[in-house]
Amino acid sequence: MKIKAAITREAGEIKIETLELSAPKAGEVLVKVVACGVCHTDASSIKQFIPARLPMVMGHEGVGIVEQLGEGVNGLAVGDHVVLSFPSCGVCPACADGKPYACKDMKQLFFGGDYTDGTTRLVDENGEAVSSLFGQSSFADHCIVEARHAVKVDPEVDLKALCSLGCGVQTGAGAVLCRMKPEPGSTIAIFGAGAVGLSAVMAAKIAGCSKIIVVDLVDARLELAKEMGATHILNGKACDVPATIMEITGGLGVNYGLEAVGVPVLVQQMLEVLGGEGLGVLVGVTGDAQIPVHANNLMDKNATFTGAIEGGANPKTFIPKLVQFYKEGRLPIDLMSKYYPFEDIEKAFEDSHTGEVIKPILVF
Ligand SMILES: NC(=O)c1ccc[n+]([C@@H]2O[C@H](COP(=O)([O-])OP(=O)(O)OC[C@H]3O[C@@H](n4cnc5c(N)ncnc54)[C@H](O)[C@@H]3O)[C@@H](O)[C@H]2O)c1
Ligand SMILES: [Zn+2]
Ligand SMILES: [Zn+2]
Repeated sequence: MKIKAAITREAGEIKIETLELSAPKAGEVLVKVVACGVCHTDASSIKQFIPARLPMVMGHEGVGIVEQLGEGVNGLAVGDHVVLSFPSCGVCPACADGKPYACKDMKQLFFGGDYTDGTTRLVDENGEAVSSLFGQSSFADHCIVEARHAVKVDPEVDLKALCSLGCGVQTGAGAVLCRMKPEPGSTIAIFGAGAVGLSAVMAAKIAGCSKIIVVDLVDARLELAKEMGATHILNGKACDVPATIMEITGGLGVNYGLEAVGVPVLVQQMLEVLGGEGLGVLVGVTGDAQIPVHANNLMDKNATFTGAIEGGANPKTFIPKLVQFYKEGRLPIDLMSKYYPFEDIEKAFEDSHTGEVIKPILVF
């Protein structure tokens, strides 16, 4: 079928074109895309900071309605509302264990351009193959995904509001609720108040953390963090962050730390402020950076330092929980979203880049 999609042929460029999308193969579904969030991974792939295989259609925070089922799809029906999430091979040991976020083929499936069978689903008007991002490519009015990463959600909820659950919100909220699993009353320091960090703030409040300390450089974002549940907000330009966190926690340090920016020095600060038995989680993308870690920040405190892809969440079980929190008003993600018509995709990226908008959402 003919579709309209935003294609990147050269680094930094994005253009809406008509492309041909093939029919869903076995295990796949055709989705009519209703909306798609803009995430930094799209921008990094467009600019080729991440060497995603061009030409490619980006977009990996799509939501939509199932329009056609490939052979052998169970658990989804035509007309279902779905949130699309990240791909996985489905058969490696991690996938078999229900941990798609640790899939051995993760990088290849995210950025390599092909679906799990090693083929593409898009061709341009000259008959040239076009790659897909995250086995999804939802900067398009239709896309194909494997049923495994299309998560059926409550049709009563406004679908376009749920885009960021597929990546950004899942990453921040998952890091807290799936990876850390804080006991009520625990303390947490969150570095970064973007879509990911703020999602961690909302999750920390849901988990009952007693001190939720948020660090950013932008006061407006810190104020929003407060509205979402932060108990303490720190502007990194205005204070000595580690010293202030130690003071807030009475010299104990925090039980949990999250780095949701991707800046090595913040990773070091996060480890510095962990208390005894603390757990520090890195989700910010630091590229090829080497991060020196003071061994005493780990050994002396019996602390743990880990990373997490997509918050260490299994979308099939975690996204429905997030939708329930949203319905209950406990995950106020609307506070960070702004909607744009699909045609204004360049403006959406510009507003994300300048930081004016936290989560731009393209609507079809
Ligand atoms: N691990 C994963 O699976 C995964 C998934 C999605 C996003 N990410 C990554 O998570 C990170 C955050 O994503 P986002 O969408 O929230 O980005 P964002 O740009 O919206 O948020 C980053 C925030 O960090 C703040 N910041 C920048 N420099 C800072 C500093 N020196 N000190 C304190 N705050 C600072 C910015 O003001 C901004 O509010 C990015 O690196 C992104 O690529 C990772
Ligand atoms: Zn993303
Ligand atoms: Zn796998």
